[in-house]
Amino acid sequence: MVRKTIVLSREQVAKEIDLKEIIISIEKCFAEFEKGKDLLPPKYIVDLPGGIAACLTGYTKATNTFSMKMGQERKGNVERGLPTIFSTMNLYDPDTGELLLIVESVLATMYRTAAAAAVAVKHLGREDVETLTVIGAGQLGQQCIRAVSTVRPFKKIFLFDMRQSQADKVVNELSSEISIPIEVANSETACREADVICTATNSSEPIVRKDWVREGTHLSCMGADLHSKIECEPSLLPRCRLFADKVEHCKERGESSQAIESGVLSKDCYVGSLGQVIIGDVKGRTCNEEITLFDGIGLGVQDTTVAKSIFDQATLKNMGVHIAFC
Ligand SMILES: NC(=O)c1ccc[n+]([C@@H]2O[C@H](COP(=O)([O-])OP(=O)(O)OC[C@H]3O[C@@H](n4cnc5c(N)ncnc54)[C@H](O)[C@@H]3O)[C@@H](O)[C@H]2O)c1
Repeated sequence: MVRKTIVLSREQVAKEIDLKEIIISIEKCFAEFEKGKDLLPPKYIVDLPGGIAACLTGYTKATNTFSMKMGQERKGNVERGLPTIFSTMNLYDPDTGELLLIVESVLATMYRTAAAAAVAVKHLGREDVETLTVIGAGQLGQQCIRAVSTVRPFKKIFLFDMRQSQADKVVNELSSEISIPIEVANSETACREADVICTATNSSEPIVRKDWVREGTHLSCMGADLHSKIECEPSLLPRCRLFADKVEHCKERGESSQAIESGVLSKDCYVGSLGQVIIGDVKGRTCNEEITLFDGIGLGVQDTTVAKSIFDQATLKNMGVHIAFC
């Protein structure tokens, strides 16, 4: 008999899906990706009259599932009073072709991205870190606070956003969930005080200055996923031991891409991928004084992994609407 498809809204994901499970799955995803058995077709972007549609796909051997995520961006929706981004993801059984899951995937994408930031902190951050700084209080920044704060026993969290009211709102919302004190701070204080910095903005101007980052800091840079975006001053990058989710992609579109273009960094600036660090092929942090930086622009296999984790959790909890398409 054909299996029914589980359909889940963003609200259901927010209420019921455990982010810690996703962090575990994403760590495994990075490690398994290095074995070369996954499939990662190129991202497909369509310029439509009203905006763009972007399609990401990926197959992972570890989950034996295939996903297809379709995101729609419509800047004109601001005037319509609608969100500017819509995204849904389908998860398939590649053996039978059955559609297992349809899930709203703006939040799922934030979960898998924040999980990547957290996995990087787990593998590259010092053991004795105490202070976490998150730059950006938007959708991704909020999930980065939730995810990264679970991988080390942080004592304090600083949050900076150029919209202070947004940062205040996020602190209010998260304070009941997270027992670590969270404080809104300016960018300089937030960076100077940090042992771990996680960037999660859509900025096209550097925010984190070279001289604000102290020795031994780890940075997870998640916001810059296009060449036009940048969050760190380029001269900071040569001070760092650099890692990527996928080196070739990050050189073109990640945090380092502008520094490479301007000659501040060479093309062989990355030590390796986070997956290589996890499986022990590449040395991560080499000493407590070193600054490490993880550049994550997002991979289709992370989408597949988060979709499978959501599918498994939804199946266990009997969540969502179950539809027989045929
Ligand atoms: N790496 C990945 O896999 C991945 C996945 C999803 C999103 N992203 C990227 O992450 C970024 C954030 O996404 P989001 O959905 O949270 O966006 P958002 O619009 O919800 O939040 C962005 C926040 O950044 C703040 N900001 C922008 N410029 C700033 C600056 N110069 N200084 C301080 N704060 C600033 C804004 O005020 C806003 O609160 C985007 O660039 C998005 O494309 C990356």
